[in-house]
Amino acid sequence: MTAAGRGMRWPRPLSLAGFKSSSGRTLVTNDAVKMHTELPGATRTLPPQKSFYLKTFGCQMNVYDSERMMEALASQGYAETENLELADLVILNTCHIREKAAEKVYSDLGRIRDIKIARQANGRDTIITVAGCVAQAEGAEIVRRQPAVDLVIGPQSYHRLGELMTRAKQERKAIIETEFTENAKFEVLAKARKRSTPSAFLTVQEGCDKFCTFCVVPYTRGQEFSRPTAEIVAEARKLVDAGASEITLLGQNVNAYHGAGDSGSTVSLAGLVRALAKIDGLARIRYMTSHPRDMDDDLIAAHAEIPQLMPYLHLPVQSGSDRMLEAMNRKHSAAEYLALIARVRAARPDIALSSDFIVGFPGETEEDIAQTLDLIRKTGFAQSFSFKYSPRPGTPAAGLGQQIPDGVKNERLQRVQGLLEEQQMGFNAGSLGQTMAVLIERVGRDTTQLVGRTPYLQLIHVTGPASLVGQIVDVTVTGFRQMSLTGQLSTDIAAA
Ligand code: SAH
Ligand code: SF4
Ligand code: F3S
Repeated sequence: MTAAGRGMRWPRPLSLAGFKSSSGRTLVTNDAVKMHTELPGATRTLPPQKSFYLKTFGCQMNVYDSERMMEALASQGYAETENLELADLVILNTCHIREKAAEKVYSDLGRIRDIKIARQANGRDTIITVAGCVAQAEGAEIVRRQPAVDLVIGPQSYHRLGELMTRAKQERKAIIETEFTENAKFEVLAKARKRSTPSAFLTVQEGCDKFCTFCVVPYTRGQEFSRPTAEIVAEARKLVDAGASEITLLGQNVNAYHGAGDSGSTVSLAGLVRALAKIDGLARIRYMTSHPRDMDDDLIAAHAEIPQLMPYLHLPVQSGSDRMLEAMNRKHSAAEYLALIARVRAARPDIALSSDFIVGFPGETEEDIAQTLDLIRKTGFAQSFSFKYSPRPGTPAAGLGQQIPDGVKNERLQRVQGLLEEQQMGFNAGSLGQTMAVLIERVGRDTTQLVGRTPYLQLIHVTGPASLVGQIVDVTVTGFRQMSLTGQLSTDIAAA
């Protein structure tokens, strides 16, 4: 499958096709609001409500951050608009993981600058903000390349967005804020959570200390940091009270989680999952993304013991060649990965596995690719994501010799994706005729159609009433494709 293929994903541009709203929230126009005061006959014209436009690229952690920023802006009186021309504030929450994602930001900024100039001619100000990993990685360079940008804000400073916007306006010069302040963002922004979708994200860990040689994350998100357990449990409770039945715990290295527990203790991800499983009404817990090195016995055991922990594991391996794994600094071999998968399967035989793969890493040979295909065949993935290696500035692999030509990368990617797609099709075919518990997440495009997820994270379309959104219902799988299933509600629910 390609990176753009799937709902629960790491770094695919979540960018909304064209310039559309990033959520289903109420949108406003910028018309002045007229209000009658108590005095008969008097009409007071209030200033128009401020609007913001926000576009999110990259991984689910950016989605989480964008949601928190939207809540903070709403509490400051801003309303979301999907029309850039009406936006007093534009925020691009960006991703730096591959060159394509980062460069898309600059082409968007060019269009936004033109709109800013047109608005200026009509006496309207626009604050252009670049947030996220490009902001962190490139800082002042962004303003050099696009001087219309007013504010560059790294992922650790979103709780200061309001104050920094005011400064940018007052000082009439670009503000660059890329300090690392760890938990402050969460402490401040998580308090505002009042709404939830049936399936919600909750960031529990940020940053990474692994330094894989291809990857920018340790530089853009900084050192590994875990939020305190009590704070996470409190946020999860709020989400459940607001209607969530499923929570996906997020982290760049989520299974390295080691948060502060009660009285000086340290809690692992397994411990956190156990604490969350005690929350009444939280039916499903998921976590992503994990590193093979941090997959400990306790977490594996949790998959066998905790019914709320869904039978799905995203465990990126990147390559099946030990030579490549070593050059990537992944710190495990292909055999160790396979042994780990065997342990996970022994604990939870039905677990659905997924992975990320990089093809065309510097020095990769045909033999290396053959070993990757071999590891894929030996493991059997329910879904996976594969990428062409993209040299990133400042990472060790970008400076290596033997960079692979794009044509060769394309051809290798096709072979790897072909096999992964075949495996996904096979996994979905195996679901045919089974009855599964499906969390109904939303109404589909056709209003009689519902969209949900199976325990194995397969997308499934079912015909049924909108009143089922948020419920977990039994569905019998009647059809499948590579990317999704179709199913029928069990007869007693359909008749109710
Ligand atoms: N922490 C996770 C992955 C985070 S980045 C892990 O360790 O597995 C998500 C995925 O993007 C990675 O798994 C990798 O497959 C891909 N990726 C990261 N840097 C890349 C690069 N320079 N070129 C191509 N793909 C990359
Ligand atoms: Fe990047 Fe490696 Fe850290 Fe994953 S473990 S975020 S790939 S450096
Ligand atoms: Fe991209 Fe940053 Fe996430 S680089 S993948 S948005 S951590």
